[in-house]
Amino acid sequence: MDNRPIGVFDSGLGGLTSVQELHRQLPEERVIYLGDTARTPYGSKSPETIVKFAIQNVDYLVARNTKMIIIACNTVTAVALDALRKRYPAIPIIGVIEPTVKKVVGDGVKKVGVIATKATIGSDVYGRELRSMSPDIEVFSEACPAIVPLIEDGLTDTEIMRLAVSHYMDDFVKEGGFDDLILGCTHYPLVAKHIRSLYPNLRMYSSSAEVIREAAEMLREKDMLASGSEFIDRYYASDMSDNFIAMTDRLFADTDFKIHLLKLEQ
Ligand code: DGL
Repeated sequence: MDNRPIGVFDSGLGGLTSVQELHRQLPEERVIYLGDTARTPYGSKSPETIVKFAIQNVDYLVARNTKMIIIACNTVTAVALDALRKRYPAIPIIGVIEPTVKKVVGDGVKKVGVIATKATIGSDVYGRELRSMSPDIEVFSEACPAIVPLIEDGLTDTEIMRLAVSHYMDDFVKEGGFDDLILGCTHYPLVAKHIRSLYPNLRMYSSSAEVIREAAEMLREKDMLASGSEFIDRYYASDMSDNFIAMTDRLFADTDFKIHLLKLEQ
């Protein structure tokens, strides 16, 4: 048993979708979440900058005595996972991409679409990992860079968002002809309702959820599951936007938590 909290981070509030899943799958676990809202989006930044920000985030979470780090961000996983594991060899660090790839391949999918940020699509990490586990799989990729900023600005449930989704996806879905779609960004479950209403026949795979299944398995294997912890969940944001507060309140209304503003060293 290990009652230390799990550290979870993202460039902003997208990773909260993973925390929601964590509460569902592992209700005994406690969380310290860090959203780097002051510097979001990461997906349009250079790999050097993303690695630098990711290291600062993990330094912060590790200093708070976390037992495991969940990178609830595809962009950071695509670009910085190796650097983070090298810096912290003693702490389990889990990224969102491999668990998602395993699930898709395990389900026998042969043709799949991936939507994600520019950095994730540019790295082709989904394409490479999917093909290495399933050499015949056909992978279609599309970067959707405006979606994260619109979510961070609180425009998730608007016609603007629906238009943005349709702008990126109409031709992509028609030309790809796939039935399965990877939400390769942890912000995207928040727009799943738009995707579902525009393309009702697509089956969606959420990287936010798959990473939690992997974390659960690892905690069980290492005998590190929590039980009866009295720690109160903490949500830190590097810029405390109204939207971050509203989203946290909405998603976690039934749990005890504290929200803090965080100053990250630039
Ligand atoms: N949630 C992050 C991801 O999964 C968004 C990255 C960004 O800030 O652009 O990729």
